[in-house]
Amino acid sequence: MAGGTPQALEAQILQAIEAADSAVALESVRVDAFGKKGWLTQAMKALGALEGDARREMGQALNRVKETTQTAWEARRDALALAEMNTRLAIEQADVSLSPRPESIGMVHPLSRTLEELLAIFATMGFTMAEGPDIESDYYNFTALNIPPEHPARQDHDTFYMTPDSTGNRKVLRTHTSPVQIRTMENTKPPIRIIAPGRTYRSDHDATHSPMFHQCEGLVLGDGITMGHLKGCLIEFCRSFFGIADLPVRFRPSYFPFTEPSAEVDIGCRRESGTLTIGDGGDWLEILGCGMVNPKVLEYCNIDPEAHQGFAFGMGLERLAMLKYGIPDLRPFFDSDLRWMRHYGFMPYDVPSVHLGL
Ligand code: PHE
Repeated sequence: MAGGTPQALEAQILQAIEAADSAVALESVRVDAFGKKGWLTQAMKALGALEGDARREMGQALNRVKETTQTAWEARRDALALAEMNTRLAIEQADVSLSPRPESIGMVHPLSRTLEELLAIFATMGFTMAEGPDIESDYYNFTALNIPPEHPARQDHDTFYMTPDSTGNRKVLRTHTSPVQIRTMENTKPPIRIIAPGRTYRSDHDATHSPMFHQCEGLVLGDGITMGHLKGCLIEFCRSFFGIADLPVRFRPSYFPFTEPSAEVDIGCRRESGTLTIGDGGDWLEILGCGMVNPKVLEYCNIDPEAHQGFAFGMGLERLAMLKYGIPDLRPFFDSDLRWMRHYGFMPYDVPSVHLGL
Protein backbone atom coordinates (compact mmCIF):
# COMPACT_ATOMS: atom_id res chain seq x y z
CA MET A 1 0.00 0.00 0.00
CA ALA A 2 1.33 3.40 -0.95
CA GLY A 3 2.69 5.17 2.13
CA GLY A 4 1.85 2.14 4.22
CA THR A 5 -1.26 3.43 6.09
CA PRO A 6 -4.85 4.21 5.10
CA GLN A 7 -4.22 7.81 6.20
CA ALA A 8 -1.23 8.10 3.89
CA LEU A 9 -3.25 6.57 1.05
CA GLU A 10 -6.06 9.03 1.66
CA ALA A 11 -3.66 11.96 1.70
CA GLN A 12 -2.07 10.78 -1.53
CA ILE A 13 -5.39 10.46 -3.36
CA LEU A 14 -6.75 13.76 -2.03
CA GLN A 15 -3.58 15.52 -3.10
CA ALA A 16 -3.79 14.06 -6.60
CA ILE A 17 -7.44 15.13 -6.85
CA GLU A 18 -6.54 18.63 -5.69
CA ALA A 19 -3.71 18.84 -8.22
CA ALA A 20 -5.94 17.84 -11.19
CA ASP A 21 -6.70 21.08 -13.01
CA SER A 22 -8.78 19.73 -15.89
CA ALA A 23 -11.41 17.11 -16.62
CA VAL A 24 -8.78 15.05 -18.43
CA ALA A 25 -6.30 15.19 -15.54
CA LEU A 26 -9.07 14.30 -13.09
CA GLU A 27 -10.04 11.31 -15.17
CA SER A 28 -6.51 9.94 -15.00
CA VAL A 29 -6.57 10.40 -11.22
CA ARG A 30 -9.69 8.27 -11.17
CA VAL A 31 -7.91 5.50 -13.05
CA ASP A 32 -4.79 5.82 -10.85
CA ALA A 33 -6.73 5.71 -7.59
CA PHE A 34 -9.91 3.71 -8.19
CA GLY A 35 -9.13 1.83 -11.42
CA LYS A 36 -8.64 -1.93 -11.68
CA LYS A 37 -5.01 -1.60 -10.73
CA GLY A 38 -5.52 1.64 -8.78
CA TRP A 39 -3.98 2.43 -5.41
CA LEU A 40 -7.15 1.82 -3.44
CA THR A 41 -7.99 -1.34 -5.33
CA GLN A 42 -4.53 -2.74 -4.65
CA ALA A 43 -4.88 -1.90 -0.94
CA MET A 44 -8.25 -3.70 -0.83
CA LYS A 45 -6.71 -6.75 -2.47
CA ALA A 46 -3.90 -6.75 0.10
CA LEU A 47 -6.55 -7.28 2.86
CA GLY A 48 -6.53 -10.94 1.95
CA ALA A 49 -3.11 -11.30 3.57
CA LEU A 50 -4.42 -10.07 6.95
CA GLU A 51 -6.26 -12.04 9.61
CA GLY A 52 -9.03 -11.44 12.15
CA ASP A 53 -9.31 -8.01 13.84
CA ALA A 54 -6.46 -6.53 11.87
CA ARG A 55 -8.24 -7.42 8.67
CA ARG A 56 -11.59 -6.01 9.84
CA GLU A 57 -10.06 -2.76 11.07
CA MET A 58 -8.01 -2.28 7.97
CA GLY A 59 -11.10 -3.05 5.85
CA GLN A 60 -13.19 -0.45 7.66
CA ALA A 61 -10.41 2.12 7.42
CA LEU A 62 -10.06 1.54 3.68
CA ASN A 63 -13.82 1.84 3.19
CA ARG A 64 -13.73 5.23 4.87
CA VAL A 65 -10.83 6.25 2.65
CA LYS A 66 -12.84 5.15 -0.35
CA GLU A 67 -15.85 7.18 0.71
CA THR A 68 -13.89 10.33 1.50
CA THR A 69 -11.81 10.22 -1.63
CA GLN A 70 -14.68 9.44 -3.94
CA THR A 71 -16.73 12.29 -2.51
CA ALA A 72 -13.73 14.57 -2.95
CA TRP A 73 -13.29 13.34 -6.53
CA GLU A 74 -16.93 14.10 -7.38
CA ALA A 75 -16.73 17.54 -5.78
CA ARG A 76 -13.62 18.29 -7.80
CA ARG A 77 -15.33 17.12 -10.99
CA ASP A 78 -18.28 19.45 -10.35
CA ALA A 79 -16.00 22.34 -9.49
CA LEU A 80 -14.00 21.91 -12.69
CA ALA A 81 -17.17 21.72 -14.79
CA LEU A 82 -18.48 24.89 -13.20
CA ALA A 83 -15.18 26.67 -13.75
CA GLU A 84 -15.18 25.64 -17.38
CA MET A 85 -18.71 26.87 -17.90
CA ASN A 86 -17.84 30.19 -16.25
CA THR A 87 -14.83 30.61 -18.52
CA ARG A 88 -16.95 29.94 -21.60
CA LEU A 89 -19.68 32.29 -20.44
CA ALA A 90 -17.07 34.99 -20.02
CA ILE A 91 -15.54 34.42 -23.47
CA GLU A 92 -18.63 33.61 -25.50
CA GLN A 93 -20.86 36.37 -24.32
CA ALA A 94 -23.11 38.03 -26.91
CA ASP A 95 -23.49 41.76 -26.68
CA VAL A 96 -27.13 42.24 -27.53
CA SER A 97 -26.72 46.00 -27.42
CA LEU A 98 -24.55 46.00 -30.57
CA SER A 99 -26.24 47.41 -33.67
CA PRO A 100 -27.12 44.77 -36.28
CA ARG A 101 -24.75 44.13 -39.16
CA PRO A 102 -26.12 45.51 -42.41
CA GLU A 103 -27.51 42.58 -44.41
CA SER A 104 -27.37 42.79 -48.18
CA ILE A 105 -30.34 40.95 -49.64
CA GLY A 106 -30.00 39.70 -53.20
CA MET A 107 -32.66 40.76 -55.67
CA VAL A 108 -34.50 38.60 -58.18
CA HIS A 109 -33.79 39.61 -61.79
CA PRO A 110 -36.88 40.96 -63.59
CA LEU A 111 -36.43 38.27 -66.20
CA SER A 112 -36.53 35.51 -63.57
CA ARG A 113 -39.60 37.04 -62.08
CA THR A 114 -41.28 37.29 -65.48
CA LEU A 115 -40.53 33.64 -66.14
CA GLU A 116 -41.87 32.58 -62.74
CA GLU A 117 -45.09 34.49 -63.39
CA LEU A 118 -45.47 33.00 -66.82
CA LEU A 119 -44.83 29.46 -65.62
CA ALA A 120 -47.27 29.91 -62.75
CA ILE A 121 -50.02 31.00 -65.15
CA PHE A 122 -49.45 28.14 -67.57
CA ALA A 123 -49.11 25.67 -64.72
CA THR A 124 -52.63 26.53 -63.60
CA MET A 125 -53.76 25.73 -67.16
CA GLY A 126 -52.16 22.28 -66.89
CA PHE A 127 -48.97 22.87 -68.87
CA THR A 128 -45.75 21.12 -67.91
CA MET A 129 -42.25 22.32 -68.67
CA ALA A 130 -39.98 21.01 -71.41
CA GLU A 131 -36.43 21.88 -72.39
CA GLY A 132 -34.04 21.55 -75.29
CA PRO A 133 -30.38 22.32 -75.99
CA ASP A 134 -29.04 25.79 -76.86
CA ILE A 135 -26.83 24.29 -79.55
CA GLU A 136 -29.21 22.78 -82.06
CA SER A 137 -28.95 20.81 -85.24
CA ASP A 138 -30.00 22.52 -88.42
CA TYR A 139 -32.73 19.88 -88.66
CA TYR A 140 -34.48 20.76 -85.39
CA ASN A 141 -34.00 24.50 -85.68
CA PHE A 142 -35.12 24.76 -89.33
CA THR A 143 -35.87 21.71 -91.46
CA ALA A 144 -38.38 19.89 -89.25
CA LEU A 145 -40.10 23.25 -88.68
CA ASN A 146 -40.77 23.42 -92.40
CA ILE A 147 -38.00 25.95 -93.02
CA PRO A 148 -36.21 24.35 -96.01
CA PRO A 149 -32.53 25.04 -96.82
CA GLU A 150 -32.99 28.00 -99.12
CA HIS A 151 -35.91 29.52 -97.25
CA PRO A 152 -35.49 33.25 -96.58
CA ALA A 153 -36.48 32.67 -92.93
CA ARG A 154 -32.99 31.28 -92.41
CA GLN A 155 -31.53 34.64 -93.27
CA ASP A 156 -34.21 36.54 -91.37
CA HIS A 157 -33.10 34.81 -88.28
CA ASP A 158 -29.51 36.11 -88.45
CA THR A 159 -28.31 32.77 -87.26
CA PHE A 160 -25.06 32.10 -85.41
CA TYR A 161 -23.58 29.01 -87.09
CA MET A 162 -20.97 26.76 -85.48
CA THR A 163 -17.92 25.55 -87.41
CA PRO A 164 -19.01 22.70 -89.73
CA ASP A 165 -18.00 19.16 -88.72
CA SER A 166 -16.09 16.77 -91.04
CA THR A 167 -19.29 15.94 -92.96
CA GLY A 168 -20.06 19.62 -93.52
CA ASN A 169 -22.91 19.75 -90.98
CA ARG A 170 -23.22 23.04 -89.17
CA LYS A 171 -24.88 23.22 -85.77
CA VAL A 172 -26.60 26.46 -84.83
CA LEU A 173 -27.23 28.42 -81.68
CA ARG A 174 -30.98 27.99 -81.70
CA THR A 175 -32.71 31.06 -83.07
CA HIS A 176 -35.97 30.29 -81.31
CA THR A 177 -37.41 27.78 -78.82
CA SER A 178 -39.53 26.13 -81.54
CA PRO A 179 -37.11 23.16 -81.93
CA VAL A 180 -38.38 22.02 -78.51
CA GLN A 181 -41.76 21.46 -80.22
CA ILE A 182 -40.13 18.91 -82.53
CA ARG A 183 -38.14 17.22 -79.78
CA THR A 184 -41.27 16.93 -77.66
CA MET A 185 -43.43 15.56 -80.49
CA GLU A 186 -40.74 13.00 -81.31
CA ASN A 187 -40.64 11.76 -77.74
CA THR A 188 -44.19 12.13 -76.45
CA LYS A 189 -47.51 10.87 -77.68
CA PRO A 190 -50.42 13.35 -77.81
CA PRO A 191 -52.08 14.77 -75.80
CA ILE A 192 -49.25 17.24 -75.27
CA ARG A 193 -49.38 20.47 -73.31
CA ILE A 194 -45.94 21.94 -72.73
CA ILE A 195 -44.25 25.23 -72.13
CA ALA A 196 -40.54 25.50 -73.02
CA PRO A 197 -38.60 28.52 -71.82
CA GLY A 198 -34.94 29.01 -72.68
CA ARG A 199 -32.11 30.99 -74.19
CA THR A 200 -32.16 31.87 -77.88
CA TYR A 201 -29.62 33.62 -80.10
CA ARG A 202 -29.65 35.96 -83.07
CA SER A 203 -27.04 38.26 -84.46
CA ASP A 204 -28.72 41.48 -83.42
CA HIS A 205 -27.81 44.15 -80.89
CA ASP A 206 -29.55 47.40 -80.02
CA ALA A 207 -31.75 48.91 -77.29
CA THR A 208 -34.42 46.27 -77.79
CA HIS A 209 -32.35 43.34 -79.14
CA SER A 210 -29.61 41.30 -77.55
CA PRO A 211 -27.65 38.52 -79.34
CA MET A 212 -28.69 36.24 -76.46
CA PHE A 213 -32.26 36.55 -75.31
CA HIS A 214 -35.01 34.34 -73.92
CA GLN A 215 -38.13 32.91 -75.43
CA CYS A 216 -40.90 30.75 -74.15
CA GLU A 217 -42.51 28.26 -76.46
CA GLY A 218 -45.89 26.64 -75.99
CA LEU A 219 -47.33 23.57 -77.67
CA VAL A 220 -50.73 21.96 -77.30
CA LEU A 221 -51.55 18.86 -79.30
CA GLY A 222 -54.51 16.56 -79.07
CA ASP A 223 -57.76 15.51 -80.72
CA GLY A 224 -60.01 18.27 -81.96
CA ILE A 225 -57.85 21.18 -80.82
CA THR A 226 -58.98 24.28 -82.69
CA MET A 227 -58.09 27.90 -83.19
CA GLY A 228 -60.76 28.58 -80.55
CA HIS A 229 -58.61 26.83 -77.95
CA LEU A 230 -55.57 28.80 -79.10
CA LYS A 231 -57.46 32.08 -78.70
CA GLY A 232 -58.93 31.19 -75.33
CA CYS A 233 -55.59 30.08 -73.96
CA LEU A 234 -53.63 33.11 -75.12
CA ILE A 235 -56.26 35.71 -74.21
CA GLU A 236 -56.36 34.20 -70.74
CA PHE A 237 -52.57 34.29 -70.54
CA CYS A 238 -52.30 37.95 -71.63
CA ARG A 239 -54.92 39.08 -69.17
CA SER A 240 -53.43 37.13 -66.27
CA PHE A 241 -49.89 38.20 -67.04
CA PHE A 242 -50.64 41.91 -67.26
CA GLY A 243 -53.21 41.69 -64.50
CA ILE A 244 -55.88 43.49 -66.55
CA ALA A 245 -59.15 41.57 -66.69
CA ASP A 246 -60.51 43.33 -69.79
CA LEU A 247 -57.21 43.80 -71.62
CA PRO A 248 -57.99 44.08 -75.37
CA VAL A 249 -56.30 41.21 -77.24
CA ARG A 250 -56.18 41.01 -81.03
CA PHE A 251 -55.15 38.17 -83.35
CA ARG A 252 -53.57 39.58 -86.50
CA PRO A 253 -52.96 37.22 -89.46
CA SER A 254 -49.27 36.54 -89.97
CA TYR A 255 -46.89 33.96 -91.37
CA PHE A 256 -44.63 31.33 -89.79
CA PRO A 257 -43.49 28.31 -91.79
CA PHE A 258 -44.31 25.95 -88.91
CA THR A 259 -47.89 27.11 -88.28
CA GLU A 260 -50.87 27.41 -90.60
CA PRO A 261 -52.80 29.58 -90.17
CA SER A 262 -50.50 31.87 -88.21
CA ALA A 263 -51.20 34.96 -86.20
CA GLU A 264 -49.51 37.60 -84.17
CA VAL A 265 -51.07 38.60 -80.88
CA ASP A 266 -51.38 42.28 -80.04
CA ILE A 267 -52.56 43.83 -76.81
CA GLY A 268 -54.31 47.16 -76.48
CA CYS A 269 -52.26 50.15 -75.36
CA ARG A 270 -52.01 53.91 -75.45
CA ARG A 271 -48.91 55.81 -76.54
CA GLU A 272 -48.87 59.36 -75.33
CA SER A 273 -45.99 61.84 -75.19
CA GLY A 274 -43.41 59.13 -74.77
CA THR A 275 -45.28 56.99 -72.25
CA LEU A 276 -46.86 53.67 -72.93
CA THR A 277 -49.92 52.55 -71.03
CA ILE A 278 -51.03 48.97 -71.42
CA GLY A 279 -54.71 48.13 -71.34
CA ASP A 280 -56.51 51.05 -72.91
CA GLY A 281 -56.38 53.42 -75.87
CA GLY A 282 -56.51 52.75 -79.56
CA ASP A 283 -52.99 51.48 -80.19
CA TRP A 284 -51.74 47.93 -80.42
CA LEU A 285 -48.57 46.29 -79.22
CA GLU A 286 -47.31 42.99 -80.59
CA ILE A 287 -46.37 40.49 -77.93
CA LEU A 288 -46.28 36.98 -79.37
CA GLY A 289 -46.49 34.73 -82.40
CA CYS A 290 -48.76 31.72 -82.70
CA GLY A 291 -50.69 29.46 -85.01
CA MET A 292 -52.08 26.01 -85.65
CA VAL A 293 -49.27 23.46 -85.98
CA ASN A 294 -48.55 23.01 -89.69
CA PRO A 295 -49.48 19.44 -90.83
CA LYS A 296 -46.05 19.25 -92.50
CA VAL A 297 -44.41 19.66 -89.10
CA LEU A 298 -46.59 16.89 -87.65
CA GLU A 299 -45.52 14.65 -90.54
CA TYR A 300 -41.84 15.31 -89.78
CA CYS A 301 -42.60 14.01 -86.27
CA ASN A 302 -44.54 10.96 -87.55
CA ILE A 303 -47.81 12.26 -86.14
CA ASP A 304 -50.90 11.80 -88.29
CA PRO A 305 -52.33 15.29 -89.02
CA GLU A 306 -55.74 13.71 -89.61
CA ALA A 307 -55.79 12.34 -86.07
CA HIS A 308 -54.15 15.13 -84.11
CA GLN A 309 -54.20 18.89 -84.31
CA GLY A 310 -52.77 21.53 -82.13
CA PHE A 311 -51.45 25.01 -81.69
CA ALA A 312 -48.11 26.54 -80.85
CA PHE A 313 -46.96 29.93 -79.67
CA GLY A 314 -43.72 31.66 -78.89
CA MET A 315 -42.84 34.86 -77.08
CA GLY A 316 -39.82 36.89 -76.08
CA LEU A 317 -39.39 37.07 -72.32
CA GLU A 318 -37.31 40.26 -72.24
CA ARG A 319 -39.98 42.07 -74.19
CA LEU A 320 -42.68 40.89 -71.77
CA ALA A 321 -40.56 41.98 -68.79
CA MET A 322 -39.82 45.39 -70.33
CA LEU A 323 -43.49 46.02 -71.08
CA LYS A 324 -44.83 44.88 -67.75
CA TYR A 325 -42.22 46.55 -65.60
CA GLY A 326 -41.53 49.66 -67.68
CA ILE A 327 -37.89 48.89 -68.41
CA PRO A 328 -36.87 51.01 -71.41
CA ASP A 329 -33.54 49.43 -72.40
CA LEU A 330 -32.74 45.76 -72.90
CA ARG A 331 -28.95 46.02 -72.75
CA PRO A 332 -28.56 46.35 -68.95
CA PHE A 333 -30.46 43.05 -68.49
CA PHE A 334 -27.18 41.19 -68.91
CA ASP A 335 -24.67 43.71 -67.55
CA SER A 336 -24.76 42.40 -63.95
CA ASP A 337 -24.84 45.98 -62.71
CA LEU A 338 -26.00 45.83 -59.09
CA ARG A 339 -27.37 49.38 -59.20
CA TRP A 340 -29.69 48.31 -62.01
CA MET A 341 -30.62 45.14 -60.12
CA ARG A 342 -31.47 47.10 -56.98
CA HIS A 343 -33.67 49.39 -59.04
CA TYR A 344 -35.46 46.87 -61.24
CA GLY A 345 -35.07 43.68 -59.18
CA PHE A 346 -37.60 42.12 -56.83
CA MET A 347 -37.41 41.03 -53.22
CA PRO A 348 -37.06 37.23 -53.23
CA TYR A 349 -40.13 36.54 -51.10
CA ASP A 350 -42.27 38.74 -53.37
CA VAL A 351 -41.83 36.59 -56.43
CA PRO A 352 -44.65 34.16 -57.21
CA SER A 353 -43.56 30.69 -58.06
CA VAL A 354 -45.04 27.48 -59.24
CA HIS A 355 -43.90 25.94 -55.98
CA LEU A 356 -45.39 28.57 -53.70
CA GLY A 357 -48.55 29.17 -55.71
CA LEU A 358 -49.70 32.43 -57.23
N1 PHE B 1 -40.61 30.82 -83.29
C1 PHE B 1 -41.31 32.04 -83.60
C2 PHE B 1 -40.32 33.19 -83.47
O1 PHE B 1 -39.25 33.02 -82.97
C3 PHE B 1 -42.48 32.25 -82.67
C4 PHE B 1 -43.56 31.26 -82.86
C5 PHE B 1 -43.57 30.10 -82.12
C6 PHE B 1 -44.59 31.45 -83.79
C7 PHE B 1 -44.59 29.16 -82.29
C8 PHE B 1 -45.60 30.55 -83.96
C9 PHE B 1 -45.59 29.40 -83.21
O2 PHE B 1 -40.62 34.30 -83.85
